[in-house]
Amino acid sequence: MPNKRPIDLRSDTVTAPTPEMRRAMAEAEVGDDVFGDDPTVNRLQERAAELLGKEAAIFVPTGCMGNLISVMMQAPAGSEILVAENSHIHTAEAAAYARCAQVNKWPLKVDRFGRLDAAEIVRSIHKGHGLPGGNSHHATTSLLCLENTNNFCGGTVQTAAEMRAVADAARAKAPWIKVHLDGARLFNAAVALKVPARELAAVADSVSFCLSKGLCAPAGSVICGKKDAIVQAHALRKMLGGGMRQVGVLAACGLLSISEPMTARLAEDHANCRRLAEGLAELPGIAVDLETVQTNILFFEYRGPKGDAAWLAGALSAEGARCLALGTRVRMVTHRDVTRAQIDEVLRIVGRLLK
Ligand SMILES: Cc1ncc(COP(=O)(O)O)c(C=O)c1O
Repeated sequence: MPNKRPIDLRSDTVTAPTPEMRRAMAEAEVGDDVFGDDPTVNRLQERAAELLGKEAAIFVPTGCMGNLISVMMQAPAGSEILVAENSHIHTAEAAAYARCAQVNKWPLKVDRFGRLDAAEIVRSIHKGHGLPGGNSHHATTSLLCLENTNNFCGGTVQTAAEMRAVADAARAKAPWIKVHLDGARLFNAAVALKVPARELAAVADSVSFCLSKGLCAPAGSVICGKKDAIVQAHALRKMLGGGMRQVGVLAACGLLSISEPMTARLAEDHANCRRLAEGLAELPGIAVDLETVQTNILFFEYRGPKGDAAWLAGALSAEGARCLALGTRVRMVTHRDVTRAQIDEVLRIVGRLLK
């Protein structure tokens, strides 16, 4: 398919800024944000905090930095953090937690929906030296990290009650424990569950969410939490090299990202993902767990007479449709820059390839 833009299903991070965002960038009022002088950044932070029901917020360059700062502001060096075994924090953020945060990660099992088990959390909480009943063999557990939606389970959602149950179990055993929510795609979860994002954020002491995935901003994430934690986050962002200047040009896009038309639009991506999953499920050699297709991410296993997941991704790419092969699985992610007609085209191409 020469001369045609590829249909890019590798990730929702490939979305380009919308025409409104490009206009907003040109017109953004800016200042030096390291001095707190950028009015557009300040507006984004206030609006994000309000939407998530938190006291304050800070704009950061990326989701990885949002998670790292959130961990560093709540988990002292030498402590231990509980993470889902397949979480982005545990599997896809380089060695940041060992090198920068100096914490030990304690991986927890997840079910196919990305849900944690309260009993395992309770068993995994450790009290180290210095705490009543502490044991010098252990690092003290300081933080429980949740992820909603869960990327590597296929964009699965957890309800506020499910998150509350595991957080309450942790806090009942260890009242000092804080909860961080990696809500890179929190608005996808909120739209899928038809609840306000603040309802999902309520369980967490800190929440980070990305503006630059399905919400189409060219860059940026936001951490929301208590005022004193966000003051600390400013120092940590500086230390990690993430202090930014006239970054209102990006925050202007972020304000559009968290506006109702953009967040509500995510439902279209979810419907496209569902259509894609149901179509693929009909094809030979493809195994899709349709129950886990809840938002805009789809994983499926592929093995057939012509090859494996890597073969299929390569063959699709040659036909003008891009996706990711991850081990035995293929990942496809729907977003604003993939239309329903293109979803149908991908189904036709895959159908032809697997004949
Ligand atoms: C669940 C989750 N958390 C964090 C991130 C990191 O975001 P970023 O790529 O902006 O650093 C991602 C990126 O895909 C993600 O899927």
